[in-house]
Amino acid sequence: MSLSVVILAAGKGTRMKSQKPKVLHTISGKPMLFHIIDEASKLSDDITVVLSHQFDHVKGEIEKSYKNIKIHKQDTQNFPGTGGALKGLKLSSKRALILNGDMPLITQESLEQLANSTAPIAMTILNLEDPNGYGRVIIKDGSVEEIVEQKDCTQEQLAIQSVNAGVYALDTELLNRFIPQIDNNNAQKEYYLTDIIKMAKESNLTIEPIVVNAKDYMGVNSKVDLANAEAIMQERIKNRLMLEGVIMRNPQSIYIDCRASFIGETVLENGVTIEGPCEIENSHIKAYSVIEESKISNSSIGPMAHIRPKSTIRDSHIGNFVEVKKSTLNDVKAGHLSYLGDSTIESGTNIGAGVITCNYDGKAKYQTKIGKNVFIGSDSQLVAPVTIEDNTMIAAGTTVTENVPSGALAISRVKQKIVNSFFHKFFKK
Ligand code: UD1
Ligand code: MG
Repeated sequence: MSLSVVILAAGKGTRMKSQKPKVLHTISGKPMLFHIIDEASKLSDDITVVLSHQFDHVKGEIEKSYKNIKIHKQDTQNFPGTGGALKGLKLSSKRALILNGDMPLITQESLEQLANSTAPIAMTILNLEDPNGYGRVIIKDGSVEEIVEQKDCTQEQLAIQSVNAGVYALDTELLNRFIPQIDNNNAQKEYYLTDIIKMAKESNLTIEPIVVNAKDYMGVNSKVDLANAEAIMQERIKNRLMLEGVIMRNPQSIYIDCRASFIGETVLENGVTIEGPCEIENSHIKAYSVIEESKISNSSIGPMAHIRPKSTIRDSHIGNFVEVKKSTLNDVKAGHLSYLGDSTIESGTNIGAGVITCNYDGKAKYQTKIGKNVFIGSDSQLVAPVTIEDNTMIAAGTTVTENVPSGALAISRVKQKIVNSFFHKFFKK
């Protein structure tokens, strides 16, 4: 079936109280608008996003992540409102699916339910305990008459609990016919897309009402809605991952980015945060560790470890209060209190407690290379750029400033002095 998808995202989003355009606020690491584009892309490759508020900014963000998304600029000065959004838009397919940019929980399945309708117009209805904020759907003798926006409702209409979810599937020809006829004679002086329902009714066209799931069609208008949508998305992500084999202790306390992927059987303890597109395979991530944009396999991490972007950790043990950044570790033990940045560390190497790579001189970042079977004593500093070759030892407390050749010991310490009876002389009691 040929289908053109239109996503309305030109509104100001005033209720978000934010400098950031509403549709770019993220849910589980991805902008709301991108969640919708990704789901809609499973139904159609003809997707248009309507923009106006912060036009260049939102357009730029879309173009950074997608190649084939069309952009339509709404003239919000002269034609504000969801109906104004479609003025001047020409669609190529016979059928159109109109979505809102602030519905990040929409899924392919929920959209298919609508796209499968063959009625001239299909619209979505939510039955809500609290219909506040939504357009009310006026139904007479089982058929839809019109949608009345809250601000235009009579007292009687305000009590109606069947509301417009704001998503429609219809013949493109009807859009071409009705959009030019929409006026702005209403409380908000806006061009309401919802007016097409009344126009269709007056033209004796069949309007198919489709009752949809409130979780899938939830609109995000405020930061409270944003937090509620995040909770639902997290639940979906974690349930999917558990069914795929991930073990989670106290899942409510865990956060996982929607771009993260897992292979095999990984354990995530309570309070773990997985940010960005991580790949984690057969590992144990202990309590309160944070992993960002990294690859981890067959390793144990934490508790309370911080793995920062572009790290690759294989067959290793990373203990508490260890920070790793942009480093590759292969069969390494770093059990306690270390910073390992811009480094590569090879097989069989042990990093003692408190070892620090000094990777930054205030201007630039430098690399630390540590070979195989290296034993680095506690509290050593490795001043980069520096290379420590295979089969070497670094004595505890050493400041390594020069490369260490294979087989050697590096030691840099002030010789210890013993002053006998000093304590008793000093405190004289
Ligand atoms: C809209 C519906 C309402 C429905 C609700 C469901 C209208 C008139 N009302 O109201 O019946 O119950 O959605 O969530 O359609 N937008 C534009 N250009 C504009 C204004 C808005 O593109 O000039 C976009 C927004 O960016 C947003 C979407 O359209 O993504 C909906 O706008 P919003 O202001 O949230 O409409 P609601 O008041 O929620
Ligand atoms: Mg809305």
